[in-house]
Amino acid sequence: MQDQSERAREEALLSGSIAEAKAELRSMSLMKGRPLRSTVVTFGCQMNARDSEKLRGILEAVGFEDTDDEETADFILYNTCTVRENADQHVYGRLGILTGLKKKNPDLIVGLCGCMMQEEHVVQKIRKSYPVVELIFGTHNLFTFPELLARILRERKRVIELWDGTDRIVEHLPVKRKYAFKSGVNIMFGCNNFCSYCIVPYVRGRERSREAEDILEEVRQLSADGVKEIMLLGQNVNSYGKTSGSGMTFPELLRQTARVPGIERVRFMTSHPKDLSDELIDVIASERTICRHFHLPVQSGSTRILAQMNRRYTREAYLELTKKIRAKVPDISLTTDLIVGFPGETEDDFLDTLSLVREVGFDSAFTFLYSRRTGTPAAKRADQVPDDVAHERFDRLLAAVKESSEVMCRRFEGQVMEVLVEEENRMQGYVSGRISQNLTVHFPGTKELIGQIVPVRLKECKGFYYFGEQEGR
Ligand code: SAH
Ligand code: SF4
Ligand code: F3S
Repeated sequence: MQDQSERAREEALLSGSIAEAKAELRSMSLMKGRPLRSTVVTFGCQMNARDSEKLRGILEAVGFEDTDDEETADFILYNTCTVRENADQHVYGRLGILTGLKKKNPDLIVGLCGCMMQEEHVVQKIRKSYPVVELIFGTHNLFTFPELLARILRERKRVIELWDGTDRIVEHLPVKRKYAFKSGVNIMFGCNNFCSYCIVPYVRGRERSREAEDILEEVRQLSADGVKEIMLLGQNVNSYGKTSGSGMTFPELLRQTARVPGIERVRFMTSHPKDLSDELIDVIASERTICRHFHLPVQSGSTRILAQMNRRYTREAYLELTKKIRAKVPDISLTTDLIVGFPGETEDDFLDTLSLVREVGFDSAFTFLYSRRTGTPAAKRADQVPDDVAHERFDRLLAAVKESSEVMCRRFEGQVMEVLVEEENRMQGYVSGRISQNLTVHFPGTKELIGQIVPVRLKECKGFYYFGEQEGR
């Protein structure tokens, strides 16, 4: 555990570099005769989204005006993801567009951070082929961003700082939340599981849990700030606490979070099937504010493939778990992640995945084509599945998922459910929100409802979302 003096020193360093960057920015803005604008573009998962809120918080503390418009921004930061090849390609594509923007506005600064930057081959390519990028940092040194920002504003020379790893957790970074009424809260960083296809442990480093008291204090503060929904975040939340001194387990942390006054809804992600305890299911069943939604990635329905993926559970164990969850929490919505075309996957293995989807009856599932990630054990295998075979299986899987989710979604039709209203809909006069089971509902309403929890009758199921009508109006 970090001692208080070390923390105080860290906070002093942080506010020192924020002040330094602020002074640099002020003189630039005096020269330009207008405030300078920044934007952060997020790729990837909830964890990256939360990191981006910290990056935006730092930029705001430094004095940038926040914008979503890249065309008019003076500083553009891409927080990248590399979990699959298409995430990388997306970033390279966008860098081409930014090269064009830079020609129009030579003062533009472009920065890259996040998971992709933790890969050496990526950074080499950017150094060589994308001169538009002037600032690069990684996942382990996100908290040095103010210092790097001060340096680039002052010197206007390429700044690249990357760390191989870290055992530090820096608390109290400034945060600018995307939503007033809901927030992610990191409970742990990194991953120790090394699923054989996955790049995350290499780019996010070893598992580190935050102290339970820091997490609960953050939740209390968020509640005081009007937040109603909390999502606890980690790559494998079930192993929370195994890497920190406080000794609290995930079910206990979840229970305590659920009981923070003012918090109406608690979600969590992601839960790994291998160490999901009965205690966790009991906590979900017994706490009113924990949402009736369980995202439990299975990846494959074949025990043989699961072993090669290093997932450490069998098809049978997974089926058993889902039965147990459904028995104790009957109105739960179960969702999952599936990978098609893992090296060596045969037609029989794939049929096992299809039959598992049918047997569980998922409310929805994210389906992914296996993507070969440099440095992972699966990428080295010679028996990669041909693209056409993988695509053909992917289409069949998608059809099975669609079938199952239509049936599952429909089971709430006609009921009145509480909806947390999130945004105005593109359809005039409508708003959209989510029920506890994470399904989306659109219904007539105005923007004053955003952030409120209201009863809505789910009148018509549209496959994977609903049209509804507010009750008691
Ligand atoms: N920690 C979470 C998942 C993080 S990544 C967990 O273990 O459940 C989110 C999803 O991306 C994974 O569940 C997996 O389905 C998918 N994924 C990860 N690596 C992949 C790869 N190399 N190719 C295709 N999909 C992948
Ligand atoms: Fe990747 Fe597996 Fe860790 Fe999830 S648990 S992040 S899939 S290595
Ligand atoms: Fe992508 Fe990094 Fe998340 S690789 S999925 S942004 S942890």
